[in-house]
Amino acid sequence: MNVVILAAGMGKRMQSDLPKVLHALGGKPLLSHVIDTARQLSPSRCCVIYGHGGDAVPTRLASDDLHFVLQEPQLGTGHAVMQAAPVLNDDEPTLVLYGDVPLTSIGTLKSLAATAGKDKLAVLTIELDDPTGYGRIVREQQRIVRIVEQKDADDNERKIREVNTGILVAPTRKLKEWLSRLSNDNAQREYYLTDIIAQAVNDGIPVESSQPSHAWETLGVNSKVQLAQLERIFQNNLANELLEQGVTLADPMRLDVRGRLRCGREVTIDVNCVFEGEVELGDGVQIGANCMIRNARIAAGTHIKPFTHIEDASIGSASQIGPYARLRPGTVLADDVHIGNFVEVKNSQFGAHSKANHLAYVGDASVGQRVNIGAGTITCNYDGANKHRTVIEDDAFIGSDTQLVAPVTVGRGATLGAGTTLTKDAPADSLTVSRAKQTSITGWQRPVKSKK
Ligand code: UD1
Ligand code: CA
Repeated sequence: MNVVILAAGMGKRMQSDLPKVLHALGGKPLLSHVIDTARQLSPSRCCVIYGHGGDAVPTRLASDDLHFVLQEPQLGTGHAVMQAAPVLNDDEPTLVLYGDVPLTSIGTLKSLAATAGKDKLAVLTIELDDPTGYGRIVREQQRIVRIVEQKDADDNERKIREVNTGILVAPTRKLKEWLSRLSNDNAQREYYLTDIIAQAVNDGIPVESSQPSHAWETLGVNSKVQLAQLERIFQNNLANELLEQGVTLADPMRLDVRGRLRCGREVTIDVNCVFEGEVELGDGVQIGANCMIRNARIAAGTHIKPFTHIEDASIGSASQIGPYARLRPGTVLADDVHIGNFVEVKNSQFGAHSKANHLAYVGDASVGQRVNIGAGTITCNYDGANKHRTVIEDDAFIGSDTQLVAPVTVGRGATLGAGTTLTKDAPADSLTVSRAKQTSITGWQRPVKSKK
């Protein structure tokens, strides 16, 4: 089929310079949700009608399978679909979607398309307790005969509770004919897409309707309030999917996934965690409260303790991270690694069984296996102009409060005494220490306050 996504509206009520359809829901633009759903239908043409915000929409979402068409000025939904007409394949039906209605399910669209078949018109409708603002579905002997917009409706029509969601499927050759005959002789001086319904009835084309599986599938975003409401619905759906897969969520209401979260078996996630991008949690992984995890792989049995921040990192199995740890991009940890509180790791690898349990900065470092990094250790990786690497070989012991001035290597099995400032390589299996010899002065007197 062809798909046309209407996304030219300005979204004044968002109170933002960003085009409405680029506002994020679950971490990605509203319009991307609609495009991704459309893609699941494998459309032969997918056309996005954009308007406000200059080239921001096509620039952000450009892709070989999408045609972006500018609608300028915006003269209504019928006028918007008209702009797509040259791109549409006459021999396949056309599905019209709204770029600001992000949660429509593929199942709902497939059943609408099945209702339309090759040569009927099908409209997705819902019944609302309060239909105010929507186009009303006018039926005679149960058959749909036209749609009347709120502003053009008389009192009786305004009582109709079945409304147009805006989503429809039409036979394309006919659709183009109907669009060319639209007029803007109505209350809003707009070319209404909804006027094609009466034309179809006139032409003897059957007009059918189908309903979404859930009413929220047809909710649109016109304000930040509505965006926040849809975000909760989206997150609630995601949390339910995770629960159904067997993930334990301390509170499904206090989880945010802005991307894709894949979980193995027996995964536990405590409250207030945020997952962004692609995150993979292996079997038995436990995530403590208040963690922020972005683009990460965490292998089986690892425990991420509360208040840990992880970005672009890979963590092996049976490891202990946090509380209050920060793993920055390029962190790769092998199995059974311990990273404790207030330890920052960046662009560094740790071999198996290595530990940095307290207060350390490990940047641009290669750390071997069974290494112990003492409290207060700092890799001095930056000389003010360039970054340099620190290499710590297997079984090394780095005493507390040590500075490793890179580039520098600590040999296998080496020990650095506490407080060492390492500026030259430390040989394997030896103690290296750089500090003044300890002396004691007996009989030394503390100064006392002078009497005035
Ligand atoms: C439209 C329908 C109405 C339906 C309602 C559902 C028409 C005439 N009315 O009304 O029956 O109940 O949606 O929400 O179709 N757009 C463009 N270009 C334009 C105008 C609109 O791209 O020139 C886009 C908007 O960005 C939006 C969608 O079309 O995504 C709907 O436009 P909107 O102005 O919200 O339509 P409504 O008046 O709400
Ligand atoms: Ca609307």
